[in-house]
Amino acid sequence: MKPLIFPIEGWWPLSRSLCRSLPAERGRLEARSFPDGETYLRIRSSCSNRHVVIAPDLSQPDPKILKLIFLADALRAQGAGSIGLIVPYLPYMRQDKSFHKGEAVTSRSFANLLSGRFDWLITVDPHLHRYHLLSEIYSIPARVVPAAPSIARWIRKRVRKPLLIGPDQESEQWVSKIAEGAKAPFVTLKKKRRGDRKVIVSASDLSVWKDHTPVLVDDIISTGNTMIETIRHLKRAGFKAPTCIGVHGIFSGSAYEDLLDAGAREVVTTNTILHSTNKIDLGGVLADAAMNFI
Ligand code: R5P
Repeated sequence: MKPLIFPIEGWWPLSRSLCRSLPAERGRLEARSFPDGETYLRIRSSCSNRHVVIAPDLSQPDPKILKLIFLADALRAQGAGSIGLIVPYLPYMRQDKSFHKGEAVTSRSFANLLSGRFDWLITVDPHLHRYHLLSEIYSIPARVVPAAPSIARWIRKRVRKPLLIGPDQESEQWVSKIAEGAKAPFVTLKKKRRGDRKVIVSASDLSVWKDHTPVLVDDIISTGNTMIETIRHLKRAGFKAPTCIGVHGIFSGSAYEDLLDAGAREVVTTNTILHSTNKIDLGGVLADAAMNFI
């Protein structure tokens, strides 16, 4: 029998693409809010002994989390054979230590919450910085699908003579793999974060690459300031307008417009988070990874 797939906030392009690629059957879910704001959920598909997958967009996670937990619990109560989570963008990965006394290490609490509800998890390029593996905080089997091959393919088709640029040392893990796939050179810059919205980017002499098309790559675009500072740096160094690629385009506030104003030639993301910049579909590669569990 085909697995059942449920999104939590309605069908979105990646859940549709996953459903086609697996192939899975769409789960039917009735969801609404009571007048006091509490959530009502009712599963309308029979899920007894079936593999079930929940595939939500978990960007801006807080308002979505309770629904996700309620749905997992209801599926378990209805006798689902297994419950997997395909969470293309895994939130709460960046607070990976207590930087100041008393700070919550939310990555760990969030991992505990999900590990207690799901049988397995698949995600795309989680923000692994101080953790090296998801298994350091997730106690369920957790598989990482890299976006690099799909991004490299997009660059090969669309960008002439690319130079891949990572804004900081951490980005080397993604940029180097994309560069290899795109058969292009890469450099990484240095970034100092001075606050949620302030970063300083610096680089050694890049003039040898001036005839290349700069392609900035980062795992997350949130306020956009990391990329904006990098664009400014490249402009001062006399480069042409860069293409900016984010694996996960969160785009807080006016981040997208700010990037274009700063001089990005175009902004491109994968479809792990719904946005008008989604040009790279990861439904097929996520479905391939899910086949290991269902
Ligand atoms: C942080 O280390 C990440 O890799 C990204 O560089 C960061 O999250 C981007 O955030 P923002 O767009 O707010 O500068």
